[in-house]
Parts: sequence; structure tokens; C-alpha cells
Amino acid sequence: MADQNVYPPSPDFVKRACVQGMEGYRELYQQAESQPEQFWGALAERELSWSRQWSHVFEWNPPFVRWFVDGKINVSYNCLDRHLATHRKNKVAILWEGEPGDQRMISYQELHRLVCRFANVLKNRGLKTGDRAIIYMGMVPELPVAMLACARLGITFSVVFGGFSAEALKARIQDLEAQIVITCDGAWRRGKEVRLKQTVDEAVADCPTVREIIVHKRTGGDVPMQAGRDFWWSDLEAGTSESCPAEELDSEHPLYVLYTSGTTGKPKGIVHTTGGYLLGVHMTTKWVFDLRDEDTYWCTADIGWVTGHSYIVFGPLSNGATSVMYEGAPDYPQPDRFWRIIEKYRINIFYTSPTAIRAFIRQGDQWPNRHDMSSLRVLGSVGEPINPAAWEWYYKTIGRERCPIVDTWWQTETGAIMISPLPGAVPCKPGSASLPLPGILADVVDLQGNPVGTNREGFLIVRRPWPSMFRTLWKDPKRYEEQYWQRIEGVYMTGDAARRDEDGYFWVLGRVDDVMNVSGHRLSTMELESALVRHPAVAEAAVVGKPHEITGQAVAAFVTLKAGNWDHRDLAEDLRRWVAHEIGSFAKPEQIRFTDALPKTRSGKIMRRLLREIVTSNAVAGDVTTLEDLSVVTRLSAQHDDES
Ligand code: WT7
Repeated sequence: MADQNVYPPSPDFVKRACVQGMEGYRELYQQAESQPEQFWGALAERELSWSRQWSHVFEWNPPFVRWFVDGKINVSYNCLDRHLATHRKNKVAILWEGEPGDQRMISYQELHRLVCRFANVLKNRGLKTGDRAIIYMGMVPELPVAMLACARLGITFSVVFGGFSAEALKARIQDLEAQIVITCDGAWRRGKEVRLKQTVDEAVADCPTVREIIVHKRTGGDVPMQAGRDFWWSDLEAGTSESCPAEELDSEHPLYVLYTSGTTGKPKGIVHTTGGYLLGVHMTTKWVFDLRDEDTYWCTADIGWVTGHSYIVFGPLSNGATSVMYEGAPDYPQPDRFWRIIEKYRINIFYTSPTAIRAFIRQGDQWPNRHDMSSLRVLGSVGEPINPAAWEWYYKTIGRERCPIVDTWWQTETGAIMISPLPGAVPCKPGSASLPLPGILADVVDLQGNPVGTNREGFLIVRRPWPSMFRTLWKDPKRYEEQYWQRIEGVYMTGDAARRDEDGYFWVLGRVDDVMNVSGHRLSTMELESALVRHPAVAEAAVVGKPHEITGQAVAAFVTLKAGNWDHRDLAEDLRRWVAHEIGSFAKPEQIRFTDALPKTRSGKIMRRLLREIVTSNAVAGDVTTLEDLSVVTRLSAQHDDES
């Protein structure tokens, strides 16, 4: 610990920063802690435009909270209309680059026009406040347009990542009971077309609530259109009015639902609402990225995940920023695509994931070294703990030792960044997300809720509600209560383990539940296991995360088969395809091992801990075609595990 590197911000950076020095940070934190109502109330009033003032800043009936009670506000208005009366009217809102190299620079006025027209399209189709839309698109400007149009009318939307399969998409459409699906013909990925509309067609076959599908043409690929159900975006938009007033929505109106993996086979619909969510993403974008009006800001996430919602769309646009959006793969056509984009648009703030950083390290320094990236001012990381070696590389090779790195810890549930250095205030320690943001009462505790003390491992929790927190799980308030608020009485359980060092810095150690983190994406062991056992050859399956150099973790599956004469090599391939079909390609197991029996406790619980040891230490050797007999290890460990 003693020779841990510490990187304080440079005096120049501090002087111009939005929060200046540790005193600046401490003062904000202290205000938020001692007077939360005044703190958040003042920010909401100063930073956002409301059409009706709230009566209470928040109302906490554990575990349910409401923020800015009785207030009326519209997210789309705050991201667009209010900038039109300022110097930002012709500022670029979305700076987009397609994978093939095409470009669009959409100003705030132009974006407003596109959103109003598409909102009118939705209105003309009979959609109204309280209805639900599924958005299944690639990374094109029409994706944020669709989100902002829904937000304008109060249509609760759910963006489904374009890598999800028809089965996964179907489950989400059904759970949300969506009336409409908004999609593209296809998306470009590594020069190939991903056929999105085809996947939608497969998915909606079993979705009686869906009345219509709106298709934006991106790739120009051949897509069958079903008369009366499917419509081209451009046809519907032709001749629609550019004027569409933003609905005055309740501060607690559900803005969107985002599905994420939990510890069961069924994904959870995380519900985010309006006023508090917007304030959370607005303030954290300013604080954490030290955003200035003249910055060009780029978050490389896919909008299909929460990072894209909060830090490509709503946070940056609410602040009137120029938000860069890139359609394709980071290594297409060559491994320097990201560095090219940084150089070309003179990017100032760059936010990416540890898994991307590790892949860049492997490709070699010649790729970034070829480019002038002196415009960079702040670097960010999100998705999983960043290992100190990757941090140092990012700092030296990308930031040229000039840019603070904000390692941002947060979750789909938290809506906004919770723990992160403020770049002009909090010294960075590689590998630590550092200190909680103002208003976030984070701690590390034992199962009784008692703080574990300095440098001891425990559960990462949050004690008080914060504006951007999720409000419930879609149609499942009971699971919300049990999963997040009852494990340790009265506090929010994040599901992560952490330790706090002598300076109060948080070191997040990873998940404590059966959730894996592959390339910064959450995957549930149970969801994968249930997908595997739906395959006709599979009797039982157990899935664990295996350490992986690039993706952090990779999926390793242990499978027992039904009686039969199986060719294991073919079957392993078939099971991978099956998982791609049931969930999506990104969830494919890297390793599949066939075994006679799965190790279980005497009470019949699969001992994933043991399997984790096996895949980590490779204690049990053998390739995928080896039938393993794990019963010996099981017998040795069963007793111990039953007792723990
Ligand atoms: C889980 C949340 C938040 C957007 C991306 C993922 C892990 C995320 C960090 C970080 C250590 C991190 C946690 C968390 N995580 N960021 N900076 N340091 N761990 O969203 O899919 O909801 O996953 O990702 O384990 O619980 P998500």
C-alpha cells in the first residue's frame, strides 16, 4: 500500500476546474450530507427547467422514494428546447461518425426539429403518455431521436442492445407490453450488416401487444415489410409538423426501463423516472468530466447499455454539450479507429471501458502513437475495476501524463455515477474509484450493516436515497424490496464487494452474487444456465466467470448431458450457437466442459465456488472433449460448503 502511486491534479487543472481542489470537493460533500433537501433543491432549481415547482424535494418511504414531488418537467425539453434561446442553438449536439466513414453534425436546432417530427409521427400512430416503446437500433442519430421523442410525449421506452437475440428481445417486449417497436433495417459492424429488422420480425411473432414497427433505413439491406404493421420512418415523417410541445410530465413519470441481468433466469426491468434522474445525470456529467461549453465529449459506450443513456444522451445534452457518437467497432478498419476519431474531431473528454483499454494495450502502442491526441483533457473508465497496469498505460500512452483519469463506479440501478474522482479535486490512485460524489453516502459493511473498518473487505452499500436511483423493478416491486433493501436492513445493497483504505478511498473488488462481468456487461449465471438447459441434449448446467486478460471475465460452462451418443466437439459448438440464439453472441461461453456430475452440496446446491476455483487455477485439467468426473472434489468439499 505504501508505494501506491498517487496522481493529484495539476495546479493548472485545479484553477480552471468546476470543483476546485479537495476543499471544493469536501465543501460540496458536506453540504449535501448535512442538508440534502437544500442541496438538491437548489441544484434542481438552478440547473433544470421545470414547468411546475415541486412541493417536497424528496419523500422517503423505505424502500420507495419520490424526488421533486408534484414537480412537472420534461427531459426532452431540458435536453433541447431550452438551449435554443442561447448561443447553443447552432452548436453541434450530436457529432456522429458511421462505421463506413460517413458523418453527420446535428445542431441543437436540427436535433429539436428531428425529435419534434418523430414525436408527431408517434402521436399520429395514436401513442400517448403512459404507452411503451421498444427501441432496437444500431448506433445512429435516430436512436437518440427516438428516445427524446418518447421522452417528449411521456412514452416509457426501453432500449434493447442490438446484440441481443430475438429470444431476448421478445422477452423484453413481452415484459414491457410494448405497443410499438422502433428499429433499423440493419447496423454496420466490422463491415458486415447486422440484420436488426429480421430479428424484430422473429421476436414479434409472439408479441400480441405490438401494433406497429417503425423502421429507420440505415444499411439499405433487403427487408420484408408487412403491410399494415411495418412502416418506414421516412415515409411516416414526410410532411409532419416540426412543432410538438413537450408534455408537462410528473417528476416521477417513468422515463425508461432498462433490462439487466440479475441472479435469476429472468432479467430485471430497472425503472428510471424523470426529474431526479435528469438532475443526477446532469450534475454528474458536469462534476465528473469537468465539462465546459467548448468541449467535444466522447463516451464510447453503446446506447443499449445504461452508460449510453446517461452519458451519451441525457447527461451531455442536458448540459448543452457536443456529444460524439460512433457507430461501429473500435478496431475497424484498423486498430487505431478510436485514436483517429480523437485526432479528427479534437476530442477533449474521452470515456471508455477497461476491456477496451486492455484490447488496445495488446494491439501495441504504435497505433495511438501515430496520432495527435493533445486535445484530450480528461479520461474516463467505466464497467469494471480497472487494473493498475491498464490505468498506467491509459494515463501515459493516451493521456500523455497530462489528463486525470476518472474511474467511475456506478450501476444500471444507480442511474448516474456514484463513486469517482472529481478531476480537478480528488487525487487519483490507479485501481480505485476513489471517493463518493456529493450526496452519496456509501460505505463498506458486514451482513449486520456495521462498517467493517479500514482496509477490511465487506459489502458496498449506500445509506440514503439519491435523485437518479431506480425506483423499482418493472411490475415487480417485491423483488426490488427483497433484492436490494432487505439483505442488509434499510440500506441499498449494491451487490459489489469493496474495501476502503486509510484515505477513505473505495476499492471495488467485484460482485458478491452470481453475476458475471464480461467486457463491462453484466451476465447472469442463472440466465445462462437456464438458456443451456433449454437445449435438448443438456441435463444440467453450471456457469461461472473465468478470469480473462481482455474481457475481465469470460463465461465457462459445465454441462451434464442427457443419455445419448454425443459428439462433444460438435455439441460444444452447437451449445455456443444456442446461447447466441437464446441471449446474444456476446454471451457465448468461451469454455464448455462436459462432466458426469456437477459438484453439489448435500442439500443439492451447485457449488459454483468450486467450479470457479477449477476454472481459475485450472486444477482440473482437460480440454472441452473430456468428460470430467467431479464427484470426488464434490465429496471432499460438500460438507464444508453446506455449513458455510
Ligand atoms: C457493475 C454494474 C455502470 C455502467 C456500466 C455497467 C461493475 C462498473 C465499475 C468501476 C469497479 C465497476 C460493478 C457494478 N462496475 N463500474 N468503475 N469499478 N466496478 O453497468 O451492467 O449495471 O454493472 O459493474 O460490479 O456493480 P451494469
